[in-house]
Amino acid sequence: MRPREFAPGVYAIGYQDWDRRLFDALIPLPDGTSYNSYVVKGSEKAVLIETVDHSPEASAAFLNNLTLLGIQKLDYVIANHAEPDHSGTLAQVLARFPEAKVLCTERCRGMLIDLHAIDAGRFQPVADGAVVSLGDRTLVFIHAAWVHWPETMFTYLREEALLFSCDFLGAHLATTDLFATDEARVYEAARRYYAEIMMPFRTSIQNHLRKLQQYQIKMIAPSHGPVYGRPQFILDAYNHWVNDEPSNTVVLPYVSMHGATHKMVEYLVAALAQRGVTVKRFDLTTVDTGRLASALVDAGTVVIGTPTVLAGPHPLAAYAALLANALRPKARFASIIGSYGWGGKCVEILAGLLPNLKVEMLPTVLAKGTPREADYQALERLAETIAQKHKEAGFK
Ligand code: FEO
Repeated sequence: MRPREFAPGVYAIGYQDWDRRLFDALIPLPDGTSYNSYVVKGSEKAVLIETVDHSPEASAAFLNNLTLLGIQKLDYVIANHAEPDHSGTLAQVLARFPEAKVLCTERCRGMLIDLHAIDAGRFQPVADGAVVSLGDRTLVFIHAAWVHWPETMFTYLREEALLFSCDFLGAHLATTDLFATDEARVYEAARRYYAEIMMPFRTSIQNHLRKLQQYQIKMIAPSHGPVYGRPQFILDAYNHWVNDEPSNTVVLPYVSMHGATHKMVEYLVAALAQRGVTVKRFDLTTVDTGRLASALVDAGTVVIGTPTVLAGPHPLAAYAALLANALRPKARFASIIGSYGWGGKCVEILAGLLPNLKVEMLPTVLAKGTPREADYQALERLAETIAQKHKEAGFK
């Protein structure tokens, strides 16, 4: 995308990575992503906010945008976040603009030196609340550790009430839309992104939202996805996601080898639905882990379905448990269902993979071989227990 001015003297010059399908060799990107970068031209100084990923296509397009914009001199490069999808082209920018200083937190400085072997003399760390003037424009730096790394900060352009929020409030979404005009689509992408990246840091995210209340914000420019011309849309969504109240929902990731666990899942889903509980079930052999993560954002209960393999849970079920444990959703209850041939420690091993989940473990239901009447009755009781627990907890 060519440079686009979206506020007076403020330009989007980042890269839309339409074809990328995996981030961190882990996170599916069904809609690609973008590495957003911004230029702010003041009456006296010019500043670049973030660079882009190191891929040759992204770097070349981004550096060409600096040329198209006619940037002859850069006074500062702001690194709100050190992760390489935003700092991957920093060394090239600093080589091209030898006068530019990098403004970032002290911790970010150390990380950028570690990641890219940048000369320590190129940095000018900024304190929380520090102000830098560009002439007729004023930048305020807002430290915000643990957006999902410890060095993060936001940059606020005072005259435009414009917040550059790095990953915070962003979305993995490649689009020609400069602004989040299709809010339904952006909502899903942003929720997924929150779930995959920020949910483990929910307490920090709550603090960031509180801290931002003291700023008037008319526009938010994150480092992934479109700009928010209506910031309340994404702030309301985040406030909903980070609150402590789960919904009346069960997330049920499962895997079945010969059909027994599948029958149990089918039965439990129907029993829960009959009681008014929403169930989001995921076949782990084909699951998009981003959808699973997104479902975990407000789930009240997590039930994992697995057969016993090699005396333990199926590896795909173990993976789902590891993922849920790492993402630390606010679920309050959990259970395990499945079948076994002769024995094993499936439940103990799976439960041991969930130490971060502050959940009450509900009774498990394990069938020997194919499920029989007694197993279905146990599933019926589990559904009733979940429905009751959700009701007592006031999940809506
Ligand atoms: Fe988009 Fe944490 O980097």
